Amino acid sequence: MPAPLKTQRPEVVARHPEPETILAALALPVIALNGGRNIVYANAAAEQMFQASANHLLDHPLTAHIPADSPVFALIEQSAADCNTVAEYGVAIESPRMGRHFVNLLASPLGDAGEGIVLVFQPRSIAEKIDRQLTHRGAARSVAAMAAMLAHEVKNPMAGIRGAAQLLEETVPPQDKALTRLIRDEADRVCTLVDRMDTFSAGGPMNRGAVNIHEVLDRVRRIAESSFARHVRIAAVYDPSLPPVYGDRDQLIQVFLNLVKNAAEACPPTGGEIGLATAYQQGVKFAVPGTNSRVHLPLAISVRDNGEGIPEDIRGCLFEPFVTAKPKGSGLGLSLVAKIVGDHGGVIEFDSRPRQTVFRIMLPMYREEPEHAATGGDR
Ligand SMILES: Nc1ncnc2c1ncn2[C@@H]1O[C@H](COP(=O)(O)OP(=O)(O)OP(=O)(O)O)[C@@H](O)[C@H]1O
Ligand SMILES: [Mg+2]
Repeated sequence: MPAPLKTQRPEVVARHPEPETILAALALPVIALNGGRNIVYANAAAEQMFQASANHLLDHPLTAHIPADSPVFALIEQSAADCNTVAEYGVAIESPRMGRHFVNLLASPLGDAGEGIVLVFQPRSIAEKIDRQLTHRGAARSVAAMAAMLAHEVKNPMAGIRGAAQLLEETVPPQDKALTRLIRDEADRVCTLVDRMDTFSAGGPMNRGAVNIHEVLDRVRRIAESSFARHVRIAAVYDPSLPPVYGDRDQLIQVFLNLVKNAAEACPPTGGEIGLATAYQQGVKFAVPGTNSRVHLPLAISVRDNGEGIPEDIRGCLFEPFVTAKPKGSGLGLSLVAKIVGDHGGVIEFDSRPRQTVFRIMLPMYREEPEHAATGGDR
């Protein structure tokens, strides 16, 4: 007869597992550090990531395993100084022993005294979505340079072409007027496109203040319902107590217009539904990569649709300019959205499967204190 494996009754183990058992089973590496920054706990996933047994990890300083100039240490000290959870996305951790890992990091103070720290390493594969939204900022910047160049090089000759077509229109026989009109319309279309791209290079200061995001969403909804989303039902679920966003109202309208337009274009011809929702989320702070600043992004706004979902092959570069799966799309909508959200210090992520695509934007909230309002975060 096989020997019993556990001393506790199985149903007791299942109902009340020890925290240690849970942490050991967790696929995410977790370590705890004391005030002297020695490792005092490492779960099995952490042993695996560090390629070291608990014996080699416990009571050793973290610097024995991760190079001292790693951003991990700044994050730990930030969390200790703040007595708060701090997150940093897309951190490369590398040592000859453990190799290279690309992770998101969460550092939280441990216990009441708060001198210890718990570190959770979230492998990049799990966090790919967020990583993506951080990389698109570079893409938006390169578009900015290109937009400035295009605006300069294309718009002026276009104005000339348009003017010439207009003059011709007055003299050509009636049957050819359609051709001159075509030239004029196409020139206009190119100018509109260039204007749209020009928003990328509009580097002037944003006009930021307290923005009622529900008013923004309602406006977008009205525009949508009277134009591109006439075939779609739009439902809104707002958190009425939501504090104002610290943002630029016109730019935020642009963001949600683009998202709702994409959602409407994705919806089926009949039975299409778009959901707008807002919520307050008490969350962790987001560390801005490469800086010491942190932002608190408690305002979450989502745009959901019941279309067929985002094509698999463009998901990896969705926020990059000129990425489109539409025959007449310019592929600029989402890169503009990403640029504006990034300028607000916000975060955008998406989740897509057939009949449910959600774009979620997290934004900072407006505070009365001028210094807080001016920094847009760090609280
Ligand atoms: N809600 C959605 N559902 C399904 N696919 C989407 C959704 N939103 C965006 N996409 C996909 O992402 C692509 C890029 O969107 P983006 O708004 O950047 O450009 P576009 O809509 O193609 O063109 P533009 O917005 O410039 O007219 C779209 O072509 C579409 O394939
Ligand atoms: Mg679009």
